[in-house]
Amino acid sequence: MPRRRLFVTTALPYANGSFHIGHIMEYIQADIWVRFQRMQGHEVHFVGADDAHGAPIMLKAEAEGITPRELVARIGAERPRYLQGFHISFDNWHSTDSPENVELSQDIYRKLKAAGLIYAKPVEQFYDPVKGMFLADRYIKGQCPNCGAADQYGDACENCSTVYAATALRNPYSVLSGAEPVLKSSEHHFFRLSDPACKRFLNEWLDKPGRLQSQVVNKAKEWLEGAGDKALSDWDISRDPPYFGIRIPDLKEEKYLYVWLDAPIGYLASFKNYCAKNQLDFEAFLQDPGTEQIHFIGKDIIYFHTLFWPAMLKFAGRPYKLPDHVYVHGFITVSGDKMSKSRGTGISPLRYLDIGMNPEWLRYYIAAKLNANVEDLDFNPDDFLARVNSDLVGKYVNIASRAAGFIARQFGGMLYEFTPANMNTQHSWGVAVASGDLIAEAYENREFGKVVREVMRLADIANQRFDQAKPWDLVKDPGKREVLHQTCSDAIHAFFVLTVYLAPILPATAARVARGLFGIERSLVFADRETRPTRIRPFKHLITRVEEKQIDALFDVASVPQPLAPQRHAEKQQHQTKERSVTETITIDDFAKLDLRVAKIVRAEAVEGADKLLKLTLDLGGATHTVFAGIKPAYGPEQLEGRLAVLVANLAPLKMKFGVSEGMVLAASGDGPGIFLISADAGAQPGMRVK
Ligand code: 2FM
Ligand code: ZN
Repeated sequence: MPRRRLFVTTALPYANGSFHIGHIMEYIQADIWVRFQRMQGHEVHFVGADDAHGAPIMLKAEAEGITPRELVARIGAERPRYLQGFHISFDNWHSTDSPENVELSQDIYRKLKAAGLIYAKPVEQFYDPVKGMFLADRYIKGQCPNCGAADQYGDACENCSTVYAATALRNPYSVLSGAEPVLKSSEHHFFRLSDPACKRFLNEWLDKPGRLQSQVVNKAKEWLEGAGDKALSDWDISRDPPYFGIRIPDLKEEKYLYVWLDAPIGYLASFKNYCAKNQLDFEAFLQDPGTEQIHFIGKDIIYFHTLFWPAMLKFAGRPYKLPDHVYVHGFITVSGDKMSKSRGTGISPLRYLDIGMNPEWLRYYIAAKLNANVEDLDFNPDDFLARVNSDLVGKYVNIASRAAGFIARQFGGMLYEFTPANMNTQHSWGVAVASGDLIAEAYENREFGKVVREVMRLADIANQRFDQAKPWDLVKDPGKREVLHQTCSDAIHAFFVLTVYLAPILPATAARVARGLFGIERSLVFADRETRPTRIRPFKHLITRVEEKQIDALFDVASVPQPLAPQRHAEKQQHQTKERSVTETITIDDFAKLDLRVAKIVRAEAVEGADKLLKLTLDLGGATHTVFAGIKPAYGPEQLEGRLAVLVANLAPLKMKFGVSEGMVLAASGDGPGIFLISADAGAQPGMRVK
């Protein structure tokens, strides 16, 4: 088989949040594929990076009082713990906020411009006069133009599902400042995606057999061939300052490349950075006709990777190359609950590691459930427990744990030397070896569930043959010594083959088996499946079983947002009072983000048309805040005036029907009736910080 040159990536995660289980699933999928390719002897370069730019990161950093680069650095510093923890073998991890990415993004922009595919035109957009910035739809709220529901985002109504332009909202306000946005015009730069040459190229690229999954081709073609208001539009690739991004080159005005333009270029930036560290010629590598460029992504970003990205690369020309494959996976759900990008799901990857759960259990489970389709994968705790305990430990590990003792005690660790003459087609080893091509093909096609099913079928065969031979009886009969030796050695040989097959999924276990049991110091390669070890060292425990209590700890309500904890624990949760269970641990830095102040309630008034609200005027020792608080059921205005309360002073202002609420007063409440305002002891002065 000719040696392939593979450049493999996973989607670059936004650098404003920690990894969630969806990221880990994608990395595990790509890592298994990459490890398999390495075991086949191919040249593989597997890179990732943080997707650092864009408005959300800029605004999050601002809210924390740090620079975007400080935020990106803090999140970047967390990454190795997860990646090492789950045995994800990236060759390089970089950032889109890097010199390589600036250089490559500006180069690609210039080449697209020279190809006549970039043009500028004025665009009228909402602008926040207080923040001094243009507002993306998610930063604008207002009343739905269709049903009148309040506080709907600038693109669609969550109440009646109507889709509209932000400018259609009634009484719009900026989510960032509460201010009423104004329409303002600015020159934007567009990539001519709708150009006939571009569409022609994309059609050809999408049509290449075997490049993309059929579901992905269908989706991309729907967009490409849309007509009327669904027609493919040109792509707005510029943003006005303030923006955390890469400057558009050769312009007098300060403009930035939209984050989605520089994000995929980050794949190349990370690879270029890696090439420099490893004396590889970046451009020559891309230009080599034998190089394959492969991207693993989730189904939510197909548009960017099957339309924009290949079009950008194609028309930028040399030295860039087109992606050979974009492999798309579905989302991960937990007991049927959909994952949200911002909240993740009920499984915290760090908690998983911190409570000592074996990362290979998760790798195995994910592999067992993955296929090559764009299907969601459900993590079901009972299923997880059953597959790990009954299959992985109960079948695969079981083979070695049963047979190794006989070999050690009866034969001093030496395995039987089979020859063609005494080999039997019924031997488990031969059956296992014969599945090699099927397993290799399944790995290549990302049919990891098929790999696992086949390995478990082979494990069943090995266990059955071992049982049928009854070694516990053979050992009592000195005349059956050779049969005993053959039976146990065959089981161990088969176990070795299965270890080779599982190595991409269970890299740590495979390395432990290779070194610890068979004295193989190098990494296993796929061709090892056809060899038979000659001796085995004393068996040590390889993989423990999952315990129920570990699953309980993983989903402990103390660490997971309540609505996302899986069903099987619902009953248990009911017995724990909400008051006793606290939510996810935060750091002191997280806490410090809250600006809590002692505030004097100088006026409290009922609000016409609101049953539960009181309008509070709060004195912070100079500054005055107006807050609408839902405490009317518990307090009359007269009970409040003159009291000290605690105000969350840095909460983003919220425009309500009755006016803008500038913060929130703290109060306690439980399942029963009653709302209890939190006050400060006598002596505290308005404006004092609560910390
Ligand atoms: O959707 C996301 O999480 C993006 N940060 C993915 C970017 S992939 C690539 F284009 F960088
Ligand atoms: Zn509506």
